Amino acid sequence: MTERVVLAFSGGLDTSVAIPFLAEKMNAEVVAVAVDLGQGGEDMDAIQKRAIDCGAVESVVVDAKEEFAADFCVPALQANALYMDRYPLLSSLSRPLIVKHLVSAAKRFGGTIVSHGCTGKGNDQVRFEAGLAALAPDLKVVAPARDFAWTRDKAIEFAEQKGLPIETTRKNPFSIDQNLWGRAVETGFLEDIWNGPTEDVYAYTADPAAPREPDEVVITFERGVPVKLDGRALTPYEIIGELNRRAGAQGVGRIDMVEDRLVGIKSREVYEAPGAIALVTAHMELENVTVERDLARFKRGVDQRWSELVYDGLWFSPLKGALDALIAEAQKHVSGDIRMTLHAGKATVTGRRSGQSLYDFSLATYDTGDTFDQSLAKGFVQLFSLPSKIAAARDAKNG
Ligand code: ARG
Repeated sequence: MTERVVLAFSGGLDTSVAIPFLAEKMNAEVVAVAVDLGQGGEDMDAIQKRAIDCGAVESVVVDAKEEFAADFCVPALQANALYMDRYPLLSSLSRPLIVKHLVSAAKRFGGTIVSHGCTGKGNDQVRFEAGLAALAPDLKVVAPARDFAWTRDKAIEFAEQKGLPIETTRKNPFSIDQNLWGRAVETGFLEDIWNGPTEDVYAYTADPAAPREPDEVVITFERGVPVKLDGRALTPYEIIGELNRRAGAQGVGRIDMVEDRLVGIKSREVYEAPGAIALVTAHMELENVTVERDLARFKRGVDQRWSELVYDGLWFSPLKGALDALIAEAQKHVSGDIRMTLHAGKATVTGRRSGQSLYDFSLATYDTGDTFDQSLAKGFVQLFSLPSKIAAARDAKNG
């Protein structure tokens, strides 16, 4: 029986060429799986058809938009996930979900091999294969771009030989990955890290410097899940989408950074994640109001570790699962409203309101109505500084 390869299909040049290439090389049938993660852009029906035109025996499109929002973006939001304090992990979050759907397609269509279009230099190969190792260790993996040392030129030549319908996907000078949580742009002139990004690099955000009226938004959270915008009940998918539009129109969420890849390379990345940055900013502030100090301090370290694990492709790892449990526990009281102004590339919190607030006006105020007993502070400060005082005395004695 002919083996079947289940291919993670984006509709772009590389995965289009991979279809006839895999069929030939592996002497196999190719099942193409395209996952809709709210990336917008090309119509999913056109993508589905292209796979068939390139020679796939089956071509499926999975609508995973709500699932991606609820089960991947929301956990990232609850972890305030920013790799290296800046990158909201949009590509890192999508791969484990794509893996999930590849595995179910392999079951449904009798696939024994799974394939992806990643090269050997990036993080995404790790995310695919670490996910597969956890969910379906019996499936074999083949990555044509990596395992058969493709170059872009070779792929284009092969496509021309085969007369593949790839016209539309050929010319882009950048490597782009985009979904509901944001957009990543790399390669081309951005590889010179002194070159500034030009306006045409961006698609989710308007120029932050252009003059315009600010936009004000109120985001309501329930236990760390965004549930309303300006009082309207919406799904996480709808909330992220609307904030992408509104914060994007104000130029919020542009990130230009050099980042540490898992494979050891430093790479230049330009991201735009207007919805993600607005939501993380709001969520962090609501945690500031509702999470007890020591839990909040501890959680910052957990958040960072969570982000590194997810960046490194370990979504399905035991440590990530254990950190999820702590993060979920910490969300118990993260309910309330955050008001923000979106303007000139920034999402700025201007108000917070919560039935779970730990902010106590009568303790905080410097005006009349103060209930804080300042006489307790004197002894507290003396004992608090005692260890440093004793150590300093010892050091003075030693000279
Ligand atoms: N550097 C980012 C990451 O590792 C983005 C990767 C984007 N992928 C791509 N094929 N352009 O998560």
